[in-house]
Amino acid sequence: MEGINRRREAARSVLPSSWGPVIEEAIATAPVNIALAKYWGKRDDELHLPVTGSFSVALDLHTITIVRQALEIDEVTVNSTPLSSDSPFYTRLVEFLDLFRPTPSFAFSIVTTNNVPTAAGLASSASGFAALTLALNTFFGWNLDPKKLSLLARLGSGSACRSVYSGFVTWQKGSSPDGRDSYAIPFDDWWPELSLAILTLSEQEKPISSREAMRLSAKTSPVYLLWPAQVSNDTRAIITAIHERNFPAFGRAVERNALMMHASMLTATPAVCYWLEETITAMNTVWKARKEGVEVYFTMDAGPNVKLLFLKQDTRKVLTYFPKAHVVGLLPPS
Ligand code: PMV
Repeated sequence: MEGINRRREAARSVLPSSWGPVIEEAIATAPVNIALAKYWGKRDDELHLPVTGSFSVALDLHTITIVRQALEIDEVTVNSTPLSSDSPFYTRLVEFLDLFRPTPSFAFSIVTTNNVPTAAGLASSASGFAALTLALNTFFGWNLDPKKLSLLARLGSGSACRSVYSGFVTWQKGSSPDGRDSYAIPFDDWWPELSLAILTLSEQEKPISSREAMRLSAKTSPVYLLWPAQVSNDTRAIITAIHERNFPAFGRAVERNALMMHASMLTATPAVCYWLEETITAMNTVWKARKEGVEVYFTMDAGPNVKLLFLKQDTRKVLTYFPKAHVVGLLPPS
């Protein structure tokens, strides 16, 4: 079956048999999430089915999305700027909306706003696709449960399936070829003392998309052979550390997982390196701070920016090493 049809089929398997707008406009919000054990590599490119499970935490930063019907063609506005119909993000959104048109000529108006400080350098596709899925659920009156919403959001962007919830979130990889068991679920514990700060080192466009970097790592890196077992071990260590409130064990597993993901990119052919000199300086500063007794760890995604993890009680000490870091609240489970 062709890609779009497989995606349609996957969406239809959780949607009601027919639908149309039930209200004039629907609004929804979804939080940004940061993976602590990363999603890196797909076993199915079309359905965004991951090779491994992953584990994230929600940040107190959101995307807010409004869905309405448009007259003729899809209109997409992001942070007050209308997107041109040839921009890559417009195309990605339209392909996602294609899964949900009640009739082929139905057009959407999507207005989306990220309350993520632009300086934070955070990608918003996960919170964006999650907020859009939640808004569509209200707009069409689907009344879907969170698992189904997570599954639909996954069809927009893999990591979006985790942004359907706040708190810690597990994305279970599932094993079904049609992805029916690949969705996120909320985690049953919370750690109020945990804190995160973002160190923005560059706001420039990524040299290579995470989609492509993931594909290259999985296909060509010898390190990637070790990745599935590493993610399982790290996830287990992170979960145990959360339950035991063991911050050093938590930080070690989170940091190791991010470095392993980057190791698989660095050893891909061609090599993918998102790091800047400043990224390496920041990593060295984290290690120096730890040697000097400050419990701070880092994680990184497909970009040069560094996210610092520490306990709230250590905020002042961490900020003396990183005066430009931007402390962001974590979003407890609802
Ligand atoms: O969901 P995508 O295709 O944007 O991939 C996200 C990949 C990472 O952010 C690097 C890791 C993750 O689990 O969020």
